[in-house]
Amino acid sequence: MSEKAAFPPLHMLEAMAEEDASAKTKRLARLYHLTQQNAWDGKAVLGGLIDRHGPPGTGMPERKREALSRVLTILMWGELAAWNISADLALRIEDMDAKMAATAQVFDEARHFYVLRDYVKQLGAVPPLGGLPRRLLSKVLNAPTLAMKLIGMQLLFETNAVVIFRRIAESDVCPILSELLPYFERDESRHVGLGVMYVPRLIERMDLAEARRTSRFQLECVLLLMAGGFTVRDDFTLLGLDQRLMATRVTDMQDEIVQQMTEHHGRGVLRAVFTPRGGFGPKILDFIHPPTGLDQTTSLHRQVHRGVQRTLSALDRALG
Ligand SMILES: [Fe+2]
Ligand SMILES: [Fe+2]
Repeated sequence: MSEKAAFPPLHMLEAMAEEDASAKTKRLARLYHLTQQNAWDGKAVLGGLIDRHGPPGTGMPERKREALSRVLTILMWGELAAWNISADLALRIEDMDAKMAATAQVFDEARHFYVLRDYVKQLGAVPPLGGLPRRLLSKVLNAPTLAMKLIGMQLLFETNAVVIFRRIAESDVCPILSELLPYFERDESRHVGLGVMYVPRLIERMDLAEARRTSRFQLECVLLLMAGGFTVRDDFTLLGLDQRLMATRVTDMQDEIVQQMTEHHGRGVLRAVFTPRGGFGPKILDFIHPPTGLDQTTSLHRQVHRGVQRTLSALDRALG
């Protein structure tokens, strides 16, 4: 699209000169300025924390260290994917305000990737990325439309990242992460804003067929996310991270995003995005993370659950 459009795009001059830019436009452009104000020095922050607490993994039992490595490795490659996707969005988006927000995000994601990479490498050997998360990241990286990329990244990746970062920081897994991850979380929360404000604009321009394709894309990504979740289930347990709590927080956050979209842009956005609170969402959540814990469910539930986990773990290795 933009590669073939006439250059220079003169509408950008208009957007800048327009005194009466809409409130929505101002909010999006504000994300760029907020990023500049809140930029932090990744090397200095991580270096300072290592000086105070010792190298990553200090005093951590080996099994816990391996589990943390596996979880953080997925998040680390997720940061690289977010870096690439936001760079692609910054290039392809033509609306000036949203282009500024995406450009600011590129800067954040680059910092997130190198800081997490430096931490993970000091924790020990970097484990391979499983086949299921790899498929999910590739799917969003190669998504054919801007709307799909934004939904995959801002609605799905960012919300999961915010919640996992917060839970690890709140836990006593590692004192470095408890102080480091709030920096990430603050940035990620801001990134969600680009999706909330810009996706509805793209949906307004869609015909019904494209809206359906977009919604199906979201469903496929959610299924891959859930499947990937099974493969790190034991790691989360070992780290003492409550998965039902995390899954509930993620669905709450996604539901809130979809609600904000409908409040500001009308229910038409539901043609192309759905909330995990609707349909079979709550039933699936209860199956994967039973409210009373897996040990308190029926033996049939436990058997099916174990079967699904075994199958998906084998698939993860086969695709890896
Ligand atoms: Fe990030
Ligand atoms: Fe992000």
